[in-house]
Amino acid sequence: MMKLLVTGGAGFIGSAVVRQFLAETDDTVINLDKLTYAGNLDSLGDSYDHPRHIFERVDICDRAEVERVFQQHRPDAVMHLAAESHVDRSITGPAAFIETNVVGTSTLLDVARGYWSELPSEQKQRFRFHHISTDEVYGDLGPEDPAFTEETPYAPSSPYSASKASSDHLVRAWQRTYGLPTLITNCSNNYGPYQFPEKLIPLVILNALEGKPLPIYGKGDNIRDWLHVEDHARALRTVLAQGEPGRTYNIGGRAEKTNLQVVEAICDLLDTHYPLPTTHSRLTTHRDLITFVSDRPGHDRRYAIDDTRISQELDWQPQENFDSGLRKTVQWYLDNPEWVNRVRSGAYREWIEANYASREAVS
Ligand code: NAD
Ligand code: DAU
Repeated sequence: MMKLLVTGGAGFIGSAVVRQFLAETDDTVINLDKLTYAGNLDSLGDSYDHPRHIFERVDICDRAEVERVFQQHRPDAVMHLAAESHVDRSITGPAAFIETNVVGTSTLLDVARGYWSELPSEQKQRFRFHHISTDEVYGDLGPEDPAFTEETPYAPSSPYSASKASSDHLVRAWQRTYGLPTLITNCSNNYGPYQFPEKLIPLVILNALEGKPLPIYGKGDNIRDWLHVEDHARALRTVLAQGEPGRTYNIGGRAEKTNLQVVEAICDLLDTHYPLPTTHSRLTTHRDLITFVSDRPGHDRRYAIDDTRISQELDWQPQENFDSGLRKTVQWYLDNPEWVNRVRSGAYREWIEANYASREAVS
């Protein structure tokens, strides 16, 4: 049994990690999250009230508050997922990405170092700082290039990926300089339940359900590798438990698809289960909603992951294949209109503000 501090545990991947830890282990989870627009306590479901779940609304840039959380809860390990995560937002407003992903990560690292350095030796040896990062730090690939390995040089393209690359370097520096036992994982695109509908898959599902255009950047031939979020959460637990401090592990889904393939697959699933509303009688299939729009500036062409290290050294492999994972994901959005409506209407924010008044508002 351990006490795990998860940052960003109200986000898409963080909430899956929290749900999985509470359901499948006896560990206590301290969930530290600022609750930005991307933080949604609804995504924790019943786990929110779980007796081993402690929620702290804290900004990772607020050093005093982060120190308080470490001293009050005394974690055995940290899984750091809190971040600004959406590439398009980083293009229109990079400052928040530098603030949270770079300054916030360095604040968290430094507080963790101070706390770790004073732990009794056995606990000190076991302590881990696990930083959750992205394959986007490696830049992009041409169609014939070999997949990213842990040795691929960093070449980030967007303000988002540059900020994540910076945070990866900070983590390595804290390991090398101070000896803080760190782990880094770099993962490909996640999909699954509770994803905020600014990302491609939930955006397309929800727009399609409303008969709205399905925007595809450029020609739709950019390639992403897709991993189900529950598989990612399992990979993170594996790396935390068995990974070697100071090392990086790439995580991928073995499912490279063009964006057009992904969007067409969603359209075809919806045609079967959810025919277009009759108000759209001009359109015969959901594919008719596909609309090519101007490309994302600096749009990375292709990502692909070589998962040899994690699969061979730690015996982790993705369980879900993309076709069935996508089918279940579409079904989840159909089966959970309440979550969807509260996100779409902004009601999830009202609840947060009513229950977690911000520090500024209180003082
Ligand atoms: P998300 O945007 O859904 O969630 C981010 C969470 O972090 C939110 O709950 C938000 O409130 C919180 N947060 C943001 N700024 C904060 C701050 N200053 N202090 C405390 N909390 C803050 O993101 P996600 O998709 O769940 O991604 C989680 C992590 O995984 C990120 O670090 C991201 O870079 C990485 N990642 C994501 C993917 C993906 O496909 N989504 C793939 C690989 C890696
Ligand atoms: O690769 C891992 C990364 O995957 C994570 O680090 C990021 O946090 C996560 O957001 C994701 O980044 P992407 O930019 O790949 O995800 P997004 O869902 O925004 O876009 C997926 C692809 O679809 C990308 O090539 C851009 C394209 N796209 C996206 C949107 C939102 C469209 O064509 N139309 C859209 O409307």
